[in-house]
Amino acid sequence: MSIGSANETTADPVPMFHPHAPRPGDPVPHIPSMAHYRAMYEESVTKPDVFFGKLAQDLLSWHKPFNQVSHGNFHEGNISWFVDGQVNACYNCVDRHALVNPNKVAIIWEADEMDHHRSITYGEVLAEVSRLANVLLKYGVRRGHAVAIYMPMVPEAVYAMLACARIGAVHSVVFAGFSADALRDRMLDAKCRLLITADQGKRGGKTIQLKNIADEALAECPAVHTVIVFQRTNDKSVPFHPPRDIWWHEETSNQRPYCPCTPMNSEDPLFMLYTSGSTGKPKGVLHTTAGYLLGATATTKYIFDLHEGDVHACMADVGWITGHSYIVYGPLSNGATTVVFESIPTYPNAGRYWDLVDKHKVTSFYTAPTAIRALRRLGDDFVKPYDLSSLRILGSVGEPINPDAWMWYHAIVGRSRCAIVDTYWQTETGSIIITPLPGCTPTKPGSATLPFFGVDVAVLDPQTGEELKGNGVTGVLAVRNSFPSIARTIYDNHARYMDTYLLPYKGFYFSGDGVSRDEDGYYWVRGRVDGTFHSLFESTQDYIVRLLTSRSAPLDVINVAGHRLSTAEIESALIKHPACAEAAVVGVPDDLTGQAIVCFCTLKSSDLDNKTLSAALTAQVRAHIGPFATPKRIIITPDLPKTRSGKIMRRILRKVAGREVVQEDLQDDAILKIKLGDLSTLADPAVVALLINSVADRL
Ligand code: PRX
Repeated sequence: MSIGSANETTADPVPMFHPHAPRPGDPVPHIPSMAHYRAMYEESVTKPDVFFGKLAQDLLSWHKPFNQVSHGNFHEGNISWFVDGQVNACYNCVDRHALVNPNKVAIIWEADEMDHHRSITYGEVLAEVSRLANVLLKYGVRRGHAVAIYMPMVPEAVYAMLACARIGAVHSVVFAGFSADALRDRMLDAKCRLLITADQGKRGGKTIQLKNIADEALAECPAVHTVIVFQRTNDKSVPFHPPRDIWWHEETSNQRPYCPCTPMNSEDPLFMLYTSGSTGKPKGVLHTTAGYLLGATATTKYIFDLHEGDVHACMADVGWITGHSYIVYGPLSNGATTVVFESIPTYPNAGRYWDLVDKHKVTSFYTAPTAIRALRRLGDDFVKPYDLSSLRILGSVGEPINPDAWMWYHAIVGRSRCAIVDTYWQTETGSIIITPLPGCTPTKPGSATLPFFGVDVAVLDPQTGEELKGNGVTGVLAVRNSFPSIARTIYDNHARYMDTYLLPYKGFYFSGDGVSRDEDGYYWVRGRVDGTFHSLFESTQDYIVRLLTSRSAPLDVINVAGHRLSTAEIESALIKHPACAEAAVVGVPDDLTGQAIVCFCTLKSSDLDNKTLSAALTAQVRAHIGPFATPKRIIITPDLPKTRSGKIMRRILRKVAGREVVQEDLQDDAILKIKLGDLSTLADPAVVALLINSVADRL
């Protein structure tokens, strides 16, 4: 790649990488030049109805054409797309390919065990999905009903999603790393009556007791009348409670391998997916059928530049939005081959990803910066032995990728000839919204570059809400005008949808992220402004907190290894422990995971020593949320920093936890003031020394 230079607003000049011409035998990219991109982008934002009307007809198969392309706006929160059209997502992802090309491989399953993999054709997917859809119908699931899915990364997890879509049921996938409490809360909120799960899961050589966990959750979900259990391990000790529990293999074998697709209205819900928000209560982000499917299909086609014969490998879990859009709906709707990967990047060793790429001749590969950083640390020798020549595109998602990790991905994995696509998006946007296009966009390590078609990005002044026009600006990331895959509501709580996304800045969708637009118009996403990511946003946070406290609890969202977590959710897990009086949770920068969780806890009374208590409180968080929310540190402290009105001053906790202030600073009030800011509102200034000493004790 040739290297030029460009300026970023806040740093030294950074290298710019220009796309290579395709190698002989490689396909010509769908968007081969910046002139193509600019022309299409221009039309997509100035004439969205023309652009998306055409795209929807080109990329999706409709049962009935739509009457109008778009309706509604961000002011009123009444967005709809492809009005009165009828479409079925499963038909688009399965039938239309299976009918033409039943022997084409739809799914490659790479099991946790290294030597275990399986290819499944579109024809087989159609039969399996149909059988399961018939089972759902037999047990009373109908259009509009919510079905919970709590599955390991097996092809049957994909079948479960598609079987729901086929009959118009709304799936709610709960990541298999979530605890029983988290599963229970999500099933109750969505009013699920049926759960699809497995006996056990396998991950990195470990066995996950999915059915046991599900049973614990189900004890408090009396409305769930049927539980379909897939046998992943066939372990005979797994509990099974008929008539509520039914075996997947027994039931599906009795069903016909065809089930007609239910034509769905464009705006009928396709799925909901819970994500952490400002309060301890997760929100069920709701996506509708046509708009979401078009967003997933178009972004996968253009950003992973899919062509006939391509194998797309997204390493996410189907329990997150990345898995929904880029393992299931996007690749399958395009008729591509998608990889379902059950294991982890370091099992049995750090060459696992590259073995997978080599073995299955993967053409586009998609993972998170946390995984890239971890593998980089383990050394190039795990990458070198493999033939990675099939790769054309390497994607990154979930958090800002630091330039060092980007460069390693580019040079060592991509062998300096693959396009790197740093893709920015969210559960709520349904599909990627800021990204390079592999055939044309010059890239800068660390920047997600430019908006995708139809996404009119605005940078707003956090205080005034005024749009910051031109280049070289920093503010909050917002989107003007709706686009097809944007979430339509929060399930059963439209007021919260309005409060969180559409009311903070009237007329815009508010992403919750900070962003800079550099001198070239490139976007650099800075991370959540409702968390701790960037000190630049201290005042922004204060502003947003002030703005939103009138309606909801203070925002505090952190991003740990690409997983969005709410500090309030972790706090409520901690205070359920009998010894914990109060808890305050903050995110601190971490080299590997981007941010890490630090918990400050005060005690009621306890006979236990701090080490035992820390272990118990850590276990408490793992049990209530899931192992992926494991705190990095628990700090037992005599007190928390509060204002006179009793509000916890998290700013102080973040700085103390991040070791930005240390014991020596206690000698000098002036330094303390510079480092911690104004402390005059603190009810008890002595608490600062207590906190710093508590952190020092733990080191
Ligand atoms: O802060 C941004 C970060 O992840 C958040 C969305 O999290 P979630 O809904 O769980 O979806 C993750 C996968 C799409 C965003 O608000 N984020 C995501 N991608 C990037 C990113 N931050 C910087 N660069 C990215 N490429």
